[in-house]
Amino acid sequence: MKVLVVGQGGREHALVRALKQSPSVAEVHALPGSDGIAQDATCHAQDWRDFAAMTGFCQRERFDLVVIGPENPLVDGLADALRAGGVAVFGPSREAAKLEGSKIFCKEFLLEAGVPTARSIVVNSVDSVRMAAGEFLPPYVLKADGLAAGKGVYICKTLRELEDAARDLFDDKVLGSAGERALLEEFKPGYEISYLILTDGESFEPLPLAQDHKRLFDRDEGPNTGGMGVVAPMVMDHELRERLDREVIQPTLRLLRKRASEGRGFLFRGVLFVGLMMTDEGPSVLEFNTRFGDPETQAILPLFDGDWGVVFREAAMGRLPKMSWKNLNSCCVVLAAAGYPDAPVKGLVIEGVREAVERESYLLHAGTKRQNNDWVTNGGRVLNAVGLGTSLSEAVERAYKLALSIHCQGMQVRRDIGAKALDA
Ligand code: AMP
Ligand code: GLY
Repeated sequence: MKVLVVGQGGREHALVRALKQSPSVAEVHALPGSDGIAQDATCHAQDWRDFAAMTGFCQRERFDLVVIGPENPLVDGLADALRAGGVAVFGPSREAAKLEGSKIFCKEFLLEAGVPTARSIVVNSVDSVRMAAGEFLPPYVLKADGLAAGKGVYICKTLRELEDAARDLFDDKVLGSAGERALLEEFKPGYEISYLILTDGESFEPLPLAQDHKRLFDRDEGPNTGGMGVVAPMVMDHELRERLDREVIQPTLRLLRKRASEGRGFLFRGVLFVGLMMTDEGPSVLEFNTRFGDPETQAILPLFDGDWGVVFREAAMGRLPKMSWKNLNSCCVVLAAAGYPDAPVKGLVIEGVREAVERESYLLHAGTKRQNNDWVTNGGRVLNAVGLGTSLSEAVERAYKLALSIHCQGMQVRRDIGAKALDA
């Protein structure tokens, strides 16, 4: 097969690598890709926003499969446009991607499906937030409705902080139209799990449970980020695991099927990423993403015992195959640029980057660029160090050995990725 991966970050590099290792795949292409990804794939400069040109490009190149990485092309309807042009696509339709593109749409879906989730009220002004705040106890959670690249959730300890957040969204419009409406919701204490499933809209295959570390600093302190590191698989006791499938996945799938049968362009062939808070009362859904997680993907893909090319292609055709998993653990440590997440510094030289040679630990490129024979920073999350092992501690050790061999001025690396899982 000849396969195209849309996107340019660490997640896409992981997808490219997994496809390159798939016996069914002869050629891997990326769009736009990056200098790092170009080591493993042919990169193309075509702009995905021009759907007509994009469809023509995929037809001319005769891709057997297009895998869409990020949320923006999905929410904008790239999958629909390509499918209409006869291209096989792994990724949900625009209507289905609203589950990620609108937190309000997602909340309505969760309520209709009967899936446990935090109680919430829709708000659209500072006044409406003030009025609704009485229905909740602090800390308050305010979530912008639209896509916000990880900056859309405010956790506020006091009413005053909440009012500041509301002014950010509704008066200063810091997120533009993505922040025109928002959800004010109940705070759910617990620990977070990323549960990704592959689905063709009919059936599903669970991927190994993963744990992201979203805060910038050790011990879950500091600002929220896109994710600073992941371990997988997370061990969960049998009973809780069954509750997860019974209370969250089954009702979700029932409603996905119902929506698909109603037509209106709701087609889910891709990954449903369920962001969960595991509370004392059980699982509660924080959000859906309609794509692979970043950096969850980097830790999950190498655990599959099979051919990812076949899985994506079959799912794209609506025939999800059964999957089996290696008896391995993985850890992905994110190396982030100085200034991340607010203002990552670009152009800093990175020392120690070498091509992946070992199977049990390797680097993926998330935000790097080639400049005068050097690798330099070119984004917030710069590199991912992936470690695999027959135990979690081995995987963590390998990832850190690699991560700490890289040097760059002001590089930010959490030192406790996997520590909670190892303690438990
Ligand atoms: P989201 O983009 O919805 O995943 O939210 C970003 C982060 O905010 C999550 O990873 C959680 O850590 C936190 N969060 C979101 N909603 C809640 C909630 N209702 N209760 C507690 N924490 C939350
Ligand atoms: N790692 C969280 C996300 O991909 O949204």
